[in-house]
Amino acid sequence: MSILDQFDLTGQCAIVTGSGTGLGREMALHLAEAGADIVGVGRRPGPIEDVGEEVRAKGRRYLGISGCDVTDSTQVNEMVARATSEMGRVSILVNNAGLGGSGRGKTLPELTDEDWHSGIDSNLSSAFYCSRALVPHLLEHGGGTILNITSGWGFRGGRNNFMYSIAKGGVIQLTKALAMTYARDNIRAVCIGPGLFPKTEEEEVLTGLGEKQPAGRIGFLREIGPLAVYLCSPSAGYVSGETVLIDGGAIAAGLTPAGLAPRAEG
Ligand SMILES: NC(=O)c1ccc[n+]([C@@H]2O[C@H](COP(=O)([O-])OP(=O)(O)OC[C@H]3O[C@@H](n4cnc5c(N)ncnc54)[C@H](OP(=O)(O)O)[C@@H]3O)[C@@H](O)[C@H]2O)c1
Repeated sequence: MSILDQFDLTGQCAIVTGSGTGLGREMALHLAEAGADIVGVGRRPGPIEDVGEEVRAKGRRYLGISGCDVTDSTQVNEMVARATSEMGRVSILVNNAGLGGSGRGKTLPELTDEDWHSGIDSNLSSAFYCSRALVPHLLEHGGGTILNITSGWGFRGGRNNFMYSIAKGGVIQLTKALAMTYARDNIRAVCIGPGLFPKTEEEEVLTGLGEKQPAGRIGFLREIGPLAVYLCSPSAGYVSGETVLIDGGAIAAGLTPAGLAPRAEG
């Protein structure tokens, strides 16, 4: 098998949560470029339909499931049942959907139970629910790959940024627990830790956030896709339980990347 063949995802099908925008959209498009059919999942129909047009233009099959809130396990179970019934074998799950803002900037005593559940559910329970729903299908069909998305906050803890840091740290541990549990079932669990990425390519120009980063810039959205393809492909067949940072050196720079004290409030 040639080196490029080892990155080929032809015949595979990937569920990507939060696939309508940002990093999820980029990963869905790159996985499709590498050959995978895509199930795009999110709450708003517009972005889910738009990314579907781009996936189909690449010659891949696409199923859009909008109106699905991945913090609700019943909706997640229905989504996975529909995905596997309409697409056949699903071999990749990208747990990308997440929300950074819940309770951010509030002090600990100010945080409500609702803040706690919102932050934990959108960033951690969602990945747990999706993995739990798909694993029986993966076991039945010879295995697959679960790709989780954490954050630098999952490594370094955040001042007054409790739920996001705690949930994203949990995502790293979920990856390890899945990897260890299913290592002999041909199911790999891997994780990407993005540094700062813009919502759109124009955002960096508007914010100038890159000046505070070791690399002197924030990430380009297009840089996430090749890493997702690698981690989901046969070329990463012996990689499991691992989190790969893509952050231009931010975590390598220490607790305060490039001298920036990580305050949630900016
Ligand atoms: N951008 C960064 O700098 C960065 C850095 C580190 C980690 N991350 C992580 O990367 C992931 C993607 O972030 P992003 O920056 O690309 O943000 P984004 O553009 O806001 O994308 C999040 C996507 O997830 C979907 N989503 C959110 N909550 C959902 C829910 N409860 N149910 C279903 N879908 C939901 C959203 O669509 P709907 O609102 O339509 O549902 C949206 O398409 C997140 O896990 C985030 O924590 C991002």
